[in-house]
This record gives sequence, structure tokens and C-alpha cells, in this order.
Amino acid sequence: MLVLMLALSFCVPAFAAEEEILTRGEFVSALFDLSGVTDIEPKQMYFDDVEMHGDMALAIRWAVGEGIVKGYGSGKFGPDDPVTREQMAAMLYRHAQNLGQGFQGMWYFLLDYPDADQISDWADEAMHWCVMNGIITGTDKGLEPKATATDDQLSLVLDRWQATLTGAGDGQNPVMNFIGEYAAGRAHARIEADGAENARITIEWSSSAWELTRWVMSGKLNNETLTVDYTDCVKSKVTYGDSGELVSEVTEYENGTGKIVFAGDSTFTWKGDQSEQEELVFEWSFVPPAGGIDYLALVNKLHPLPDGWEDALQTVTVTNSVGDEVEVEKKAYDAYLLLKADLEENDGIYLELDSARRSVAAQQDIMDRFIEKYGADYAAKTVATPGYSEHHTGLALDLYFRLKGEDGAFTDVYYNEDMVQYPEIWEKIHSKLADYGFILRYLEGKEHITGYGYEPWHLRYIDDVDIAKEITSRGLTFEEYLGAVRATDVNIDYGASELYSREELKEAVVQIKCQFASWEGCELHSIRYAGDERNSEENLQWMNSLGGEGQYYIQCAEFLMDFRSPVEGGDAWSPDTEYTDYQWWLARTENGGWDILTWGY
Ligand code: DAL
Ligand code: ZN
Repeated sequence: MLVLMLALSFCVPAFAAEEEILTRGEFVSALFDLSGVTDIEPKQMYFDDVEMHGDMALAIRWAVGEGIVKGYGSGKFGPDDPVTREQMAAMLYRHAQNLGQGFQGMWYFLLDYPDADQISDWADEAMHWCVMNGIITGTDKGLEPKATATDDQLSLVLDRWQATLTGAGDGQNPVMNFIGEYAAGRAHARIEADGAENARITIEWSSSAWELTRWVMSGKLNNETLTVDYTDCVKSKVTYGDSGELVSEVTEYENGTGKIVFAGDSTFTWKGDQSEQEELVFEWSFVPPAGGIDYLALVNKLHPLPDGWEDALQTVTVTNSVGDEVEVEKKAYDAYLLLKADLEENDGIYLELDSARRSVAAQQDIMDRFIEKYGADYAAKTVATPGYSEHHTGLALDLYFRLKGEDGAFTDVYYNEDMVQYPEIWEKIHSKLADYGFILRYLEGKEHITGYGYEPWHLRYIDDVDIAKEITSRGLTFEEYLGAVRATDVNIDYGASELYSREELKEAVVQIKCQFASWEGCELHSIRYAGDERNSEENLQWMNSLGGEGQYYIQCAEFLMDFRSPVEGGDAWSPDTEYTDYQWWLARTENGGWDILTWGY
């Protein structure tokens, strides 16, 4: 009953009747009472609006000495002024810092309240900490930082503050439900603990860009420090007490949400009394990467360039052999120079940079040109949507090379259609990428994961030779390495066709796979050609009725796909369902490539 009353009283709007208003002097006095300090060194009274003697003066002297209060400047403290919610937060936070609490190192997360931008700069950190620890929660109007705190909030706030400090929280700590944002992404983390026999901790998150960040969380569990280090959000290092370091796989990952379960019996030795639920202390801090960019950031059809990227990006601009200026991320360029020197010296291959960092506007130009020249479907498997190109990162490098003739003169091999004529040169280049921290990004056969056709020239710098070697030796895409997709082997059956060559059918399949890559959370199993008889007059008419103005299709093809829908379903899908014989219809004009006209049942 008491709990219920407290909760209700806290939900009332910050505005309250006159007699309920809490003053700054009263708040400091309450903090002083709570501190249990009775004996303070006589100190000068700094404020001319505070009595020299009395309990409140003692409390304010104490608070000044502890750095908990600062006053308004010009000698005023305003003891009778109402205390605002952000002032209250600031005092509680400074006091907590004196007691060894508060944020450590770099941290940041968004306060998910409409009025969070109204928090004064001096109270920002304090408000974050108070909200994170559930000491101050929002009303239906938001956080109301400038609103007056009320008497009846006082005991609740102080109780929660104390509970945070002693770790005796009520288990509903809102730190389990916050949105964090720093460096490159947003994340949402919830931590659940179960103190029963089979003790376990479940950590869940969901985020639009969860894999862009490295999180280090550390907390206390039965008085032992537990540290969770999500380096790539696939493998997590967990250190618990003195039982050492553990590496745990994410047990479930779907579609931007993940779950790690550490069970006491299987992953670490549980210390202390497992039935003591209240011994769990939720004190989690999130530490962003120490500045700079995240070299393992994923940018693809589903993940745009992370916010704030450009602020942290450092680039160099160089001129290539055809006189174009190319802008590249600094470290990526250094690594590229080493790769280039190695290939020149040992293989007689002369690398050049065609394109690296591109602005969104530059990407739009390329997209417009491709659509005009090759049509929208071809463009979609070749050029990323502006905002979603890995080239925005400065870490993606498109290469070309020069051939050295017997007379020592160089010939540029620059155009895509020319470059693909030299598979043996690409093979040599690719064999050395990982040694310099690069990976090949758009692999043949993995178009349903990357969303793009094979590009032998497009490298991605990831600044980690070990990871690059692992990705390369396992034949993985970056998405697979990061655990960002549901990927299995795909069975392709081209059947027998007298109408289309294998190459033509392959092209159609790549087109379908590139489209499929944007079906977030879906897992592709198979694609089969439905047979020449589907290229009937009736179906062609249907294709032409679906096609754009002035488009005349002369041939069509049907493919059938089996795939699994996302575990949690979505607008388009039933949850975790096998869709079989799902139809894809493609058609082509006299001179054009394949267009995807429709899909479905
Ligand atoms: N060619 C790659 C996919 C890009 O445009 O980013
Ligand atoms: Zn590229």
C-alpha cells in the first residue's frame, strides 16, 4: 500500500499547490539529515540571503563544503526559492559523485523525453544519471526539468537516491529500459536478473544500428563486478568476479535485436546467495569508443551512415592517374599505400583509386546516371541509395589498375566492363587485402546478403588485420561476420532452358537476390527457374500491363523462391514461417536487362 501511494504521488504533475512546494533550503537540509553528519567544521557563510545560524545554515555550510551547492553567484543561494527538478538532480548527483558514484569515462545516451532539450547544461549529466537510476522519472508531460519539485516527491527521490547508492533498488530500475546513443548508433538495453536457483542474466537489446558500437557495461552482481564487453555484438567478453574471462555467443539474434543469456551453470560460477534477489545492483555505464570513427560500422541497404560520422571522419584527398580527386579516410589511405606498394613490388600490379568517400549528393548523381543509362533495377543492384552507401564512410575504396607495357608505358584499366576481363589480377589483389586490414565487400553468390552484384574492385577498410583475415578465410560477408543477417546456403536451380543462357538466368537470379537483401530478417533458402513455358503470350501481356510507359517487354521469366520470414513477423510476414513457391516475375525488353515486375503469390 505504501509503495502504491508513493508511486501515485510521484506521478502527479510537477505543478503543485503552494504549501507542497519544496524549497532549496529544505532540500539541502534533507540531504544533510540523510548524510548523518552532525559535526562540521565551522565555515564561512558564503550567502548573504542565508541566516548565519540555525539548522538550515549548518546544512548549507555542509553542502557548500562538499561542493553540492553552488548558489546563484553574486552571493545569493535563494533558500526560500522553490527547488526545480534539475536543481534537485544536480545536488543529488554532486553528492553521489562525492560518494564514488556517477558516470565514469565517456558516456552518453539520449533521454527519451520530449522536453529533454530543456535541461540546462549544468544539470545535463546529473539528469541523465538520475533518470538512468530511476531517481527522477518523467510525468506524462516529460521530465519537466524547470518545474518545481514538491514535498511529496522529496522522500521518494531521496529513497531512490539512497537505494541507488546502496544497491538496494526495488528491481524496477529504469536503467533496464533506456535508449543510449553515442558515437555511431542508438541502442536499447534491458537487463534482467533472476536470483533463483538457476541464476542467470539476460541481456537484450534492440537498435537500428546496434552493431555500430562497442559497449562496455559493468555492474555489480552479488558485490562482484561484472563486465560485459560487446566488441562486435556477436561474441561478447564477460568478466565476472574472479572467475575469469568468458566468451559467450549471442544466443538469439534477429533483425537488429539480440539476446545474450549467461546461465550460472553453463557460463560462470555463481557467487553468493543466489536467492538474494536484492543483492543485484544495476549500475551500468556505457562507454563509447574513445573518439574517432567505428571501423567496424555496417553501412548497407538496411543501415544508413551513422549520425555524426562526418564530424569524426578524417580524410585525405589525392589525385589519381586519370586526374580525378579522391577523398579517403586517413588510416584507410595509409593501408592502401602499403597494399599498393606490395602489389607493385611483388606482382607488377599498379593500383589506382577510382572513388572512395562520396557525399550523399555525389552518390545521388551516380544513381541518376545509372538509372538513366541502365534502368532502375540494374541501378539498384549496382549503386547504393544515397545515404546508404558504404562510400559515405570514406572506408570503401573502388580500385582500378594500370597495365605496364613492354615499353614501360601505362594503360589504365578503368571501366567496370574492362576490369572484369582480368580475373587473375583481381585474384592476386584479393589475396593480399586482409594483410592490410581490407575485405572484399560484395562477394559473388552472396548478393542476397550484401544486396549488390559482385564487385571485385570495391574494398572495405576495417582497421583490424585479424578480423579481416577471419572474414576472408571463412568466405564471409561483413554482414555475416557481424551477425546482422539470417544467412544459410542458398540452393539455386536453373533448370533446363532453351530460351535463356545460364548467364542470362544468373543475371536474373542476382537481381532477385539483390532485392531480397532488403527484406530485413528474412532467410533465403532456394530459388528455381519455373520453366520456359512461363514465357507465354498471356504472361507477357501481363508483364507489359505492369511495366512503365513506353516499355515493351519481349520475354519474361518466372522464378520460385523458398524463404523463411522474420521470427517476429512484421507488416508483410507471418512470424517465422516458411514461404514456399513464392513467385518472382521478371521481363526484359529488346535491348534491356531484366526488370523485376512483381512478386508474391
Ligand atoms: N557500388 C556500391 C554498392 C555503392 O554505390 O555504394
Ligand atoms: Zn564501391
